[in-house]
Formats: sequence, structure tokens, C-alpha cells
Amino acid sequence: MKRIAIFASGSGSNAENIIRYFSNSTKIKVVSVLTNNPNAKVIERAKILNVSSIIFSKLDLYESQDFFDNLIKEVDYIILAGFLWLMPKRIIDQFPQKIINIHPALLPKYGGKGMFGMKVHQSVIDNKEKETGITIHYVNEKYDEGTIIFQKEVNVVWNDTSETVAEKVHQLEYEYYPKVIETVILKDEF
Ligand code: GAR
Repeated sequence: MKRIAIFASGSGSNAENIIRYFSNSTKIKVVSVLTNNPNAKVIERAKILNVSSIIFSKLDLYESQDFFDNLIKEVDYIILAGFLWLMPKRIIDQFPQKIINIHPALLPKYGGKGMFGMKVHQSVIDNKEKETGITIHYVNEKYDEGTIIFQKEVNVVWNDTSETVAEKVHQLEYEYYPKVIETVILKDEF
């Protein structure tokens, strides 16, 4: 059984979708949700699905030996789902090609520090893009620059707003993120 921890900072609709997707899996299990935000809705979503949440501080993530040791002991893969802090080098080095992120645009467009959530969709609208989409990628030490695993496009039409684009992108995320995670993990096994 491969064990996943999901890191999320906010609503956690992707985290919920991933937990549900793997709830009956015999090969992959979501063991915990980790969040930097004590008010994140993801905590409630995880609780309803019987997954424990851990709230951590900057000090925990970047410096604590206990936090680091527990992660290594408890987890095989780290999945970022709306997680807004940069993963520290010590964790990236410990989990090579085992930390995966989803970004709500077609990287390298609309990526980098500060580009998250609605900011991304508003920029897509402001620039009158004809398409946007999702990018699933491995995580390295820079925001949104790790090797791309998967992308999927969706059209942006004349009457789209940042809200309707967000909705379209979320639908792609729900459809593809769990499947891509599953494919990566099961491929590693062989
Ligand atoms: C998702 O759209 C995800 O792609 C995005 O935040 C949203 C979180 O939604 N991530 C980023 O922008 C990372 N740069 P959720 O909390 O409902 O899953």
C-alpha cells in the first residue's frame, strides 16, 4: 500500500475528490491532510471522510526535525492540492519525483510565485486567452517549474468570467488529478 499525504491551504475540494477516489483502493491510501491554515475548509472536508488533519507552522515545515521524520516515516508520496507555500529543499530531496502539484493553468503560462487560484483565472481573462487548462507536475524548488507530467486544455469563450473559467478548470482537476496520481504511483511500482 502506497501512502499519500495531501498538502492543502484552502477549500480543499481537490483534496476531498482525491480522498474519495482512493477510498476503496487496495493500493493507494490517503493517510493525512496537512495544512498551514487552521481555518482551511479542507480540515472539515477531511474529517467527514475520516482522514486526520495536521496543522503545521512555517517552523515545522522548514526546520522541525520531528515534522520531517514523521513525514518520512508515514508517507510515500506528497500531493499538493492548492498548497501555497514553497516546498523546502530538504523535503524535495527526500521525496525525489514523489511530490506532485496541480496548477490551474497551462504552465509555463500563468505560473510562479503569487500566481494561484483566482489570480490565475483573472489573468487568463485579462489577456483574452482562447484556452486555459490544468498542469500536473513534479515539484522542485521553484514555484511551478518542475517537470510536467500531464496537461489538459479547455476553451475560454467570449462571455467567460474568472468564475466560469475557475469552474471549468476545477472540473478538469476533478476528472484528471486522481487518475494521474494513480498512474504515476502504480507505474513507479513496476
Ligand atoms: C485549485 O484550482 C488548484 O489548481 C490551485 O488552487 C485551487 C485549490 O482549490 N492551485 C494553485 O493555484 C497552486 N499554484 P481547492 O482548494 O478547492 O482544491
